[in-house]
Amino acid sequence: MVPESSKKNFGLIGYPVEHSLSPIIHSTLGAETDVDLSYPLYCIEKDDLGSFIKDSYDLGINGFNVTVPYKQEVMQYLCDIDEEAKAIGAVNTLVRTENGYKGYNTDMPGVMEAMAEEGIVIKGSNVVVIGAGGAARAIVMGVINEGPAKLMILNRTKEKGAELASEYGYEGAIIAGYDDDFVAMMDEVSGGKKWIAIQTTSVGMYPKVVFSPVTNKEFYTRIDKAYDIIFNPAETLFMKKVREAGGEAYNGLKMLAYQGCRSYEYWTGKKITADMKKKVCAALIK
Ligand code: ATR
Repeated sequence: MVPESSKKNFGLIGYPVEHSLSPIIHSTLGAETDVDLSYPLYCIEKDDLGSFIKDSYDLGINGFNVTVPYKQEVMQYLCDIDEEAKAIGAVNTLVRTENGYKGYNTDMPGVMEAMAEEGIVIKGSNVVVIGAGGAARAIVMGVINEGPAKLMILNRTKEKGAELASEYGYEGAIIAGYDDDFVAMMDEVSGGKKWIAIQTTSVGMYPKVVFSPVTNKEFYTRIDKAYDIIFNPAETLFMKKVREAGGEAYNGLKMLAYQGCRSYEYWTGKKITADMKKKVCAALIK
């Protein structure tokens, strides 16, 4: 039996993890909610992941965030997985229970909350998701749940976009690769309405800031609002092109902040207020 201590021990598991901003989120929330906590970064080799989880549980660690590349890998080491996380097929939050850690996905509600706050309304809109990797999984699920008018997945490897849509049992997604005339495909089904674009790849992230996954200039003229999950730089080339074409564009800072706030709520049972969320965002920008 591990003795109860007032100090709470969380942390981030990934490979690599050293540049993570999550410690800023959780130290801010700890101070705001009066919780004495630690949040170290654990850079773990794949072969050590299972024993690390077991040893952490035995030591009484209260919870973890999980990042790339272990959001799927970690699932086999958990005693239970939340239904939504199961459907997404990825877990980013581990919560200590009596029998082991239970897995949750806060990326999906985090990004949906961030987009809603920026005035990005998915329900009934034409939505193009760029990318079909790990980050896109949670986002595509969130978008499908909201009920878009049209959903296009635009990805370098077209098959991966098709796989993602069919895995979620979503019929009618428009799947395109960069070699397709994807702007014509958008126009064909748009009903004259502009599109919401969600950029989920790492293309354009610091230090490779001179890249955008979409080079076709026409594409940007079809975009009304865009969300880029990248937050460094604050304005990616993708965002800049959207703005130059007359659209609105937002970076992924709030998505990062809000997934962290939701993990913290799971761990501590404390409600994170709008004011606390603002403080987290301010701390992340510093
Ligand atoms: P993550 O798990 O962080 O989302 P990932 O699984 O490697 O990372 O997926 C990254 C996404 O970015 C994928 O959709 C990938 O396209 P592919 O499916 O074709 O691999 C996309 N991506 C990565 N580098 C890219 C590049 N240079 N140009 C265009 N797309 C890229």
